[in-house]
Amino acid sequence: MAKPRIILDCDPGHDDAVAILLAACECDVLAITTVSGNAPLEMTTANALLMCQLAGLDTPVHAGADRPLLVPAAHAPRAHGATGRDGPRWPDVHLAAASNDAVGCIIETVRAHDDVWLVPVGPLTNIALAVRQAPDIVGRVAGISLMGGSVGPGNVTPTAEFNVWADPHASQIVFAAGVPLVRMAGLNLTHQLRVVPSEAASLRKQGGIVPEFVAGLFDFYLAGYRERAGLDAAPMHDPCAVLAVTHPELFTFGARHVDVETSGVLTRGMTVADERPGTDATPNCEVAYGIDAVAALELIIDAVRSYA
Ligand code: RIB
Ligand code: CA
Repeated sequence: MAKPRIILDCDPGHDDAVAILLAACECDVLAITTVSGNAPLEMTTANALLMCQLAGLDTPVHAGADRPLLVPAAHAPRAHGATGRDGPRWPDVHLAAASNDAVGCIIETVRAHDDVWLVPVGPLTNIALAVRQAPDIVGRVAGISLMGGSVGPGNVTPTAEFNVWADPHASQIVFAAGVPLVRMAGLNLTHQLRVVPSEAASLRKQGGIVPEFVAGLFDFYLAGYRERAGLDAAPMHDPCAVLAVTHPELFTFGARHVDVETSGVLTRGMTVADERPGTDATPNCEVAYGIDAVAALELIIDAVRSYA
């Protein structure tokens, strides 16, 4: 069966980096687009290029929005470091971005190809700008599979997940755009899929530039969760959005109406899913509630190993 065509929109980011490697194995990645999020745009773009260089990918990388639509840019150095890829040593990046027009790339790619999935795993700024500038792509995409939001606790605030919180207005636009198929991998889902130190050790034991680099990413990422949350495991957020396209059978979904709070003092960036029994709200999203974490993690680790 043909691999699904996707555009991966990301803000590398430790888990974004793993999502790039997984997507390149499991999908036909037409383009990688970058956005300000975990780190400033210059860093997230350099990190995406680094992953392509390490993995030998010739996927074009297009830089996108360097700030959210309305709120000030915010980053996540506690989780990803100032560079967005703290932890392992890395070589100089000699690849360059194909353009600074990620939004134009998204629009033209969707217009030129049928059945393209948009897979955003960072703030939704680029996606919102694309659907606003080119409403025709809403009916052309195969779907949007996003990592973001939560139907449970947040992470950046008690109520909001970072990607949606970082650009709540963009998120509201995307959920309200009318895309026929939207899959949401929120924190309630992604925290079911965690890497533990033994995964890092096994990748390091196998050896190879990419497995050893990812082992270094895992070490840093795990240390952060150990320090902040006392956990000896770290959620693999972004790869979930890729697997929701390539292996939907590993998930359980619930059709829900999801809207985004944009102005709440305590609730800015909250994804409000209508879970009331018998609600008359029309669903606009398939919220992921469950995942076969063992099978999913095996696919992720196997993908990383395949670059050895
Ligand atoms: O809240 C988790 C999300 O925020 C992930 O996409 C992670 O990479 C960060 O961007
Ligand atoms: Ca991300």
